[in-house]
Amino acid sequence: MKLRDVFGGDFRQFGMIFALAALVLFFQVYTGGLVLTPVNMMNLLNGNAYVLVLAIGMVLVIIAGHIDLSVGSVAAFAGLVTALAMRDWGVPPWLAVLLCLATGVAIGAWQGFWVAHVGVPAFVVTLAGMMLFRGANQWLGESNTVPVPPLIQYLGGGYLPEVGPHTGYNNLTLLIGLAAILCVVAGALRARRSTLRLGGQVIPASALGIRLVLLSLVIACATYLYATGRPGTSLPMPGLVLFALVLLYTFIAGRTVFGRHVYAVGGNAQAALLSGVDTRRVNFMVIMNMSVLASLAGLMFVGRATASGPFDGMNWELDAISAVFIGGAAVSGGVGTVIGSVVGGLVMAVLNNGLQLMGVGADMTQVIKGLVLLMAVAFDVYNKSHGRPSIIGLILRGGKPAQAPGAERAKTPEPVEKPRRHGDRVQTVFWWGVAVVLAVALVLVFRAGGRKGSGLAGEKSEAGFAAGSMIGISLPQKSSENWVLAERLFKNGLKESGYRFEVQFANGGVPEQQNQIQAMLAKEAKVLVVGAIDGSQLGSQLRDAKGDGARIIAYDRLLLNTPDVDYYVAYDNFKVGELQGNALLEGLERRQGKPPWNIELFAGSPDDANSPVFFNGAMSVLEPRIKDGTLVVQSGQTTFAQAATPGWKAENAQKRMDTLLAGTYSKKELDGVLSPNDTLARAILTSVKAAGRDLPVVTGQDSEVESVKSILRGEQYATINKDTAALVEHAIVMVNDLQRGRIPEINDDRSYDNGVKIVPAYLLEPQIVTLDNIHQAYANDPTLHRIVNPGK
Ligand code: BGC
Repeated sequence: MKLRDVFGGDFRQFGMIFALAALVLFFQVYTGGLVLTPVNMMNLLNGNAYVLVLAIGMVLVIIAGHIDLSVGSVAAFAGLVTALAMRDWGVPPWLAVLLCLATGVAIGAWQGFWVAHVGVPAFVVTLAGMMLFRGANQWLGESNTVPVPPLIQYLGGGYLPEVGPHTGYNNLTLLIGLAAILCVVAGALRARRSTLRLGGQVIPASALGIRLVLLSLVIACATYLYATGRPGTSLPMPGLVLFALVLLYTFIAGRTVFGRHVYAVGGNAQAALLSGVDTRRVNFMVIMNMSVLASLAGLMFVGRATASGPFDGMNWELDAISAVFIGGAAVSGGVGTVIGSVVGGLVMAVLNNGLQLMGVGADMTQVIKGLVLLMAVAFDVYNKSHGRPSIIGLILRGGKPAQAPGAERAKTPEPVEKPRRHGDRVQTVFWWGVAVVLAVALVLVFRAGGRKGSGLAGEKSEAGFAAGSMIGISLPQKSSENWVLAERLFKNGLKESGYRFEVQFANGGVPEQQNQIQAMLAKEAKVLVVGAIDGSQLGSQLRDAKGDGARIIAYDRLLLNTPDVDYYVAYDNFKVGELQGNALLEGLERRQGKPPWNIELFAGSPDDANSPVFFNGAMSVLEPRIKDGTLVVQSGQTTFAQAATPGWKAENAQKRMDTLLAGTYSKKELDGVLSPNDTLARAILTSVKAAGRDLPVVTGQDSEVESVKSILRGEQYATINKDTAALVEHAIVMVNDLQRGRIPEINDDRSYDNGVKIVPAYLLEPQIVTLDNIHQAYANDPTLHRIVNPGK
């Protein structure tokens, strides 16, 4: 018996499975056993199931020779429709789920029509779809976050319930694991019997036996991990949905006429057509199917995030496409498998997860993932062009570089694919190596131990927790200097206090922040300090954190619609808005002569919980003056939704200002602009300068270096001083209090209602800075002091 019999000679397929196993093992060892734990395994499934669902649809699209760039936008749009239907249109959750899928069908029919019946390349149709449905999403949702009810949350992040007798395990998970093993074994035996009956060739019984034992062991280990997590957790629902889809689509792709037609069309459309395949129908169906699965993915995501948000689905198409190509599909179509793509997606997911557990930053993780994608496909392409099966070919040579193609051919006159004796030996050694690696992995899994007792964590946190424990700091994108500064200050402060810590930025958006928080929990963080990208979309992670006994402090931005936030530490956001409104009025009086004055309003990113608060604070000052005619907003854009700046992106503010100047203000003077922070203030000033217009009075916030210089030059009028050092220091004081079992000091217990509870807050006082007080304001800030007092 050869090991290749055991694993089936298809190296292409198995190569990736072993790459996955090797990655898991590597990270398991490197992180001291954090990968193969119940909590992390649940995170892996919860945090990636929606991308894997997309990959399942995408592989069919790619096999058929197309690509779908619209899936992220379609997912976001369908998720939003579902959320709105339940919140605003009175649709019950079960009907909303159907509505979500129906949205997918409708969008799929639309895109399928253009591809299959008009013949527009799918690349173009779905590129258009990407814009169309992103725009529709932002228009319909007014760029806001829309919460979803518990049933949908359950679908996207819930666990199988506890039923039956108390066994110390989650019984349903055990049952599913058992059923999976039985199915695998029975299916294999049946297939073998029918092949024999038809006179086909089968692998030796012993090889099949070993294969089945190994597969069963892997399933048993996974079952064990999922059944022994914290009470109340088990196999996550998204995992269940994913497994069902993998089974269904493996069947469709491999066993149905339609599946064969998809391969035929992708392999050679002309030949398929001539042999009677309805290529139009095939193309229509794969595109349609993709949109339906994208809608399902959107639904799963809003469930997990507990709300739909304006940036959902960003770049998901790229994740799905990478999964499919890593999983061995060919760019030219005709080749690929559902399992391969899911494994490809898991390779990326494990890489992400492992790097996060190691504390590698989001930026480096991105670099590494990019390289892995390129390498995986490059090896594949290279090996194929040299007649070798795949990436595994390289490993088979013990990592030695391949010989030059010419030399190889000269030495090996027979076709390379033909197995050679030496090659066989090397392969056998390789497979044994792999088996040993797997066995070690299994031992490590079982060392992870059983279900931990309940309640312990809660008791501990009341009495504080061990000094030197893990503290997780989760920050949003680096959208302004204060966040970058906070990173450094947190690292220094926590180190000084003797904690282990992890400080992460989520430049990749909400899903990345969710995964980072889960990774911090896997490292047993006792306190999470969270500056959320979207305060409404971390509900499931915070619930898990609470379940694990961690304490949660919202930092700078409030966490919304969740009971699972303990404290809030921030500068008083409403006050920031008021100060900006007053500064704008003061600047207008000083610089722009007599009223009425023309002004425009800019607000922050709609997903940031602070943004509406700033805006309302400013409007509490400005609105009465708009009403009495002192101020005129010539564009008429006075609502938060109209003024918002998605993602706090300078380019978005600059574009909006360009348009206002070219349109509304082509023949009018613009006297003032309310800008919610410095980055946007400078973008607004850049736009005005580029248009060659007089500078209006512009406010700002954060005391960024370039804005302080701009104020000194007499350009930007004002900024807000929110000393980041003081804010970080206070957050660490709270952490220390919690560690010692003390109740942290708060100074506000009524202002910050997060939709579920009033969050006890410690608010710091912001300060407005103009040329008048710039010297005093920064007297104690080493960097800014030097800037306002050059030469001192
Ligand atoms: C912070 C601001 C900052 C903005 C963009 C807000 O949540 O409070 O200080 O300018 O995010 O990063």
